[in-house]
Amino acid sequence: DAVPRARKVDDQQLRVSKIRDGTVIDHLTAGEALNVLAILGIDGSSGEGVSVGMNVISDRLGRKDIVKVEDRELSQSEVDVLAVIAPEATINIIRDYAVVDKKRIERPTAVTGLLFCPNRNCITNANEPINTRFIVLDEGLQCDYCGSIVRESEVPTYLDVA
Ligand code: CTP
Repeated sequence: DAVPRARKVDDQQLRVSKIRDGTVIDHLTAGEALNVLAILGIDGSSGEGVSVGMNVISDRLGRKDIVKVEDRELSQSEVDVLAVIAPEATINIIRDYAVVDKKRIERPTAVTGLLFCPNRNCITNANEPINTRFIVLDEGLQCDYCGSIVRESEVPTYLDVA
């Protein structure tokens, strides 16, 4: 078994500490945490407190990833974007240590301004003042301008996050 044994996470033996204020993105499929950080534009450079648990044991998922961002409550548009790659995640808003809101996220029908189009000849890559727009389909995200498809596994490659 190449995967190291992870310890059970519970309140007595938390692998990642509770936070006072901020957002906990829970029940991420194992392996998604780093993509979530990329989508949120988190690289540690602005000094925010961020905890990441990868491949922690979960009753529901077997293994899961979890991301805790301190002093930041995700906006609805950030939640929409996360929903593309992590539709099964739970977003918990934490205030003064208490979970004040818990939302299961829903897959959006379209995303605007999130991804580059992979087609170099697409109008969205021509320095025109046009936002990219992709329609969310079962087989991936389809550019609304040229029809190119970005599969979900390719989303991190085409992320347009500063
Ligand atoms: N959490 C945290 N800091 C807090 C409160 C909660 O980091 N001050 C985290 C918990 O560790 C958990 C998530 O936020 O990962 C949701 O907390 P809670 O709703 O208390 O846990 P569960 O009931 O296990 O959540 P669910 O039903 O969504 O699995």
